[in-house]
Amino acid sequence: MCNKLQGQVALITGSGRGIGKALALKLASKGVRVVINDLDQEPTEDTVAQIKATGGEAIAVVGSITSEGFADNFIAGAVKAYGTPDMLINNAGYTWDSMIHKADDEQFDAMYEIHLKAPFQLNRAFVRAIRDIAKKEAAAGIENFRKIVNISSIAGVCGNTGQVNYSSMKAGLSGMTKTLAKELGRLKVNVNCVAFGVIDTRLTEATDEKKSITVDGREIGVGVPEKVHAAFSAAIPLGRSGSAEEAADGVYLFCTPESNYISGQVLLVAGGLSL
Ligand SMILES: NC(=O)c1ccc[n+]([C@@H]2O[C@H](COP(=O)([O-])OP(=O)(O)OC[C@H]3O[C@@H](n4cnc5c(N)ncnc54)[C@H](O)[C@@H]3O)[C@@H](O)[C@H]2O)c1
Repeated sequence: MCNKLQGQVALITGSGRGIGKALALKLASKGVRVVINDLDQEPTEDTVAQIKATGGEAIAVVGSITSEGFADNFIAGAVKAYGTPDMLINNAGYTWDSMIHKADDEQFDAMYEIHLKAPFQLNRAFVRAIRDIAKKEAAAGIENFRKIVNISSIAGVCGNTGQVNYSSMKAGLSGMTKTLAKELGRLKVNVNCVAFGVIDTRLTEATDEKKSITVDGREIGVGVPEKVHAAFSAAIPLGRSGSAEEAADGVYLFCTPESNYISGQVLLVAGGLSL
């Protein structure tokens, strides 16, 4: 049977862990060559090693998507290794919660940098890399669809207490998605957005322990108090939180040719939850 994604090239930010990693493994299993990115060397190279161990192709690009020049270097690295890219998934992210009366500008700016500015820069670099060839294809009457998927959250669609910074930026990604869908249709780029509900990763792990991660030199808390997690899970019509693999499957839909006539959409992958 013909493998519809064989040989395509996908770039996925934040794919050393969680949903990004699950998506990378899924795409690689379909013959996609994947450019893996994360903050630290170990998770980034682990994902690459797992892909290679199953006969797939991947390269690692370690670094923060918010660092100066990252977007252009990331895309240029992919082009050098594999040629013109087919897909970009803007997935890297984290939360830094506070109620508005306690939230400071640093928290707001950090969420802007990672959830809006970096995806803008990455989308721009992707478009610059594919523009000439996409125009030539269009002039020759060839419809070769490429894909951008921006990863959002139910917090960006419905709001969420304690996440004024995160929800504002994730909502902004929806505006970016809709505008780029309009700008890039003529280049046959489908631009869509996937907004997750409660997915089991370290970001939303049910825990009463104080856990933290280091992002760009800052200690940031992760995990959700067990009671809060249970309350969210009880409100999910499908009865439980989702796995990283189930979340990745929602993104995968927008990576396949079956979504070639879908653009500018925000898909909730949340087990039916709408807050
Ligand atoms: N887990 C959920 O319930 C949930 C819900 C809604 C939205 N999301 C979104 O899904 C995406 C993936 O999150 P996840 O749940 O898989 O979390 P995760 O922590 O398991 O994975 C996110 C990855 O992004 C990386 N990352 C963070 N900052 C980075 C940076 N500056 N540069 C490069 N990499 C960076 C992290 O190191 C991590 O490996 C995020 O955008 C998140 O906001 C998750």
